[in-house]
Amino acid sequence: MVLLLKHNMPNPRMDMKKTAQAPSNIAFVKYWGKKDEKLRLPANANISMNLSNLNTVTTVEFDPSLKTDAVSITDNQEEKAISKVVRHLDRIRNVAHISLYAKVISRNNFPSSTGLSSSASSFAALTLAASCSAGLSLNEKELSIMARLGSGSACRSIPDGFTEWLEGEDTNSSYAVSLLPASHFDIVDIVAIVSNEKKEIPTTEGHALAQTSPFYQTRLTHIKSKIIQCKKFLHKKNFTALGELIEKEALEMHAIMITSSPPLIYWLPTTVSLMKQVQTWRKTGLECYFTINTGQDIHIICRSKDKERVKEKLQSIKEVKRIIVNIASKGAHLISDHLF
Ligand code: PMV
Repeated sequence: MVLLLKHNMPNPRMDMKKTAQAPSNIAFVKYWGKKDEKLRLPANANISMNLSNLNTVTTVEFDPSLKTDAVSITDNQEEKAISKVVRHLDRIRNVAHISLYAKVISRNNFPSSTGLSSSASSFAALTLAASCSAGLSLNEKELSIMARLGSGSACRSIPDGFTEWLEGEDTNSSYAVSLLPASHFDIVDIVAIVSNEKKEIPTTEGHALAQTSPFYQTRLTHIKSKIIQCKKFLHKKNFTALGELIEKEALEMHAIMITSSPPLIYWLPTTVSLMKQVQTWRKTGLECYFTINTGQDIHIICRSKDKERVKEKLQSIKEVKRIIVNIASKGAHLISDHLF
């Protein structure tokens, strides 16, 4: 991967403009808390499913005529978000040994900062598009490591289908692998957007508080066995056992958040109301389970045969602003439709 290039000279292998599409993902066993803040090494391994209808598309072009990076992100022109992208471009420039600036345009097809993991899809798409545009041909493991440095859960949006982020001990051993292809299990993730309000505490700040919960160490003592169980249920397509694990795990992570100092309460009243309704629907024979990340929106996991019934229930709730149905999907990939 070592390319010796003159300062600011385009790499002859650079194919200037590249566009990547990457999915967001939903964790079945969550990443909450880091054992290395700077390297974004997670305190525990974690497992997720890539989501077919929550996507980011990003076009990157390193351009000798630019005097600075020119970054545009849908619904987020905050300085903080832009500088995270620029820092990521710096990582890629470092590896590619170039110092050219880049034009970046990034579009999500869903709202950011409401708990739908837009940073996962964004940094996975950015990593693939920018590394290819810089002339690098990183393999899946290298892409996943690079994406992790931008935003932890982005490493899981690189490989296909159902993925595991291996906890690792250093930067080279902490990356995601595909456990099973998307076609393995026809489960559906129905997202109910309950508000477009951005969350008050960004996820990065939340991770740093995990240690302050008196229950955090207890979580870490049983998380390895949870990972083993989750993999077993996925392999065997045991939906009931998997769904119960997913819902309990979401509640456990939020128990850590709620008992942190200061406490983190990401839910809105509608989020709680939906959690309770999912449990009621289940009691009345509609088998579905919820999970929630750092935000107010809720993911409902069901089998594809029950998808329409869950959708109908959600459509009748006036607080639900939008419903997005996802199946498992492939990971980050290049596409030919550029955004500029
Ligand atoms: O990758 P980050 O820093 O956005 O953290 C993700 C944290 C959760 O979404 C709450 C859990 C997870 O594993 O996706």
